[in-house]
Amino acid sequence: MSEKVKVGIIGSQFQADIHAASFQIAPDEAEVVAVASPTPLHAQNLARRYGIPRVFTDYRQMLQEKDIEMVTLATPNYLHAQMTLDSARAGKHIVCEKPLCMTLEEAEEMVAVCKAQGVLLLYAEELYFTPKYVKAKEMADQGAFGKIYLVKQSEKHFGPHSPWFWDVERSGGGVFMDMGCHGIAFCYWFLGRPPIRSIYCQMGSYVHGDKTRGEDNSVCILEFENGAVGLVEDSWARRGGMDDRIEVYGSDGVTYANLHMGNALPTYSETGYGYAVEKAPSTKGWSYPVFDELWNYGFPQEMRHFARCVRGKEEPVATGEDGRVVMEALCAGYASAHAGKRIDLPFCPRGVKKPIDLWLGHNEGTSAR
Ligand SMILES: NC(=O)c1ccc[n+]([C@@H]2O[C@H](COP(=O)([O-])OP(=O)(O)OC[C@H]3O[C@@H](n4cnc5c(N)ncnc54)[C@H](O)[C@@H]3O)[C@@H](O)[C@H]2O)c1
Repeated sequence: MSEKVKVGIIGSQFQADIHAASFQIAPDEAEVVAVASPTPLHAQNLARRYGIPRVFTDYRQMLQEKDIEMVTLATPNYLHAQMTLDSARAGKHIVCEKPLCMTLEEAEEMVAVCKAQGVLLLYAEELYFTPKYVKAKEMADQGAFGKIYLVKQSEKHFGPHSPWFWDVERSGGGVFMDMGCHGIAFCYWFLGRPPIRSIYCQMGSYVHGDKTRGEDNSVCILEFENGAVGLVEDSWARRGGMDDRIEVYGSDGVTYANLHMGNALPTYSETGYGYAVEKAPSTKGWSYPVFDELWNYGFPQEMRHFARCVRGKEEPVATGEDGRVVMEALCAGYASAHAGKRIDLPFCPRGVKKPIDLWLGHNEGTSAR
């Protein structure tokens, strides 16, 4: 088969828009032919914006479309597992948004069922495709920094855009679940996927306690088998728009990368203007508009790569297995924050409905520990 991979998107809002835009920016390998979402107006709007011909309100109907080879899941976390299983059983390759799912059992089942059905489970961790971060990894792999002993990643803003993120029953946790999953995946990938030996986490609800039972700030230290340390900081309590950055320290060198700054135009405006950057609260006064925002994140490169994987042109660099490793670390992180001490891996809690339960358990109603 040489024609473009036909894609169906499940979901029709924030991340679904990014998926559709990414396929439009890098159109040579794939085309979006359908979107499915229970909110018809949103689905129709997305279809209109990107010229998507077919619209469904039930994703199971979309899965019956024979020509669709790959689906992307841009839906709340609690739906990822069931949607993956349904899609795999319908013979579709799957791009699943982060975090992979809600529990370790779900992660294992997703990986096993996709394998049994002979479909790819591709994990949408765009930091593996973020040009600045890819450049840092290329330099690290060439030995530029000698032996790496510390990798940091942090992502901070003032909180997510949709109500379900704040509802731990549907999200599985607060900022650590939502964005700590990026940092864990990043450190693991950057260091060449050494096993994670232990994790220590501190988290609390500092600003948004009226809105969520989830934590809105977290600090996480990962120790890897190769001796390196990962430091992952995340916040939904940080004012001033999106901040995403890495630091890499080795015996022979160091590099720093700020995903937005350096790609931004320091700008002052009395009147304000249309759009600066994701989650920027205002465009009046000083602001830092970013150009080619999706490209700077790596989303189009990520979707192009996944389509090429479906065609057998590339080997997947981000898979369900990565998502499973991250899920285990998330569970261990919440348990660590609850216990107030380091937790060793492997850590495989069974029967836990969502990672944050390992922290909330006896902490309901308390704030930062
Ligand atoms: N990679 C990233 O940087 C990044 C950024 C934002 C969100 N995400 C992830 O993407 C996923 C979606 O987040 P979002 O920000 O787009 O949320 P959102 O609230 O903007 O959109 C969620 C979508 O899911 C749809 N939906 C809900 N129930 C559904 C169902 N039963 N069938 C089909 N569609 C259904 C909704 O109609 C909506 O269109 C989450 O897992 C989130 O963690 C990833």
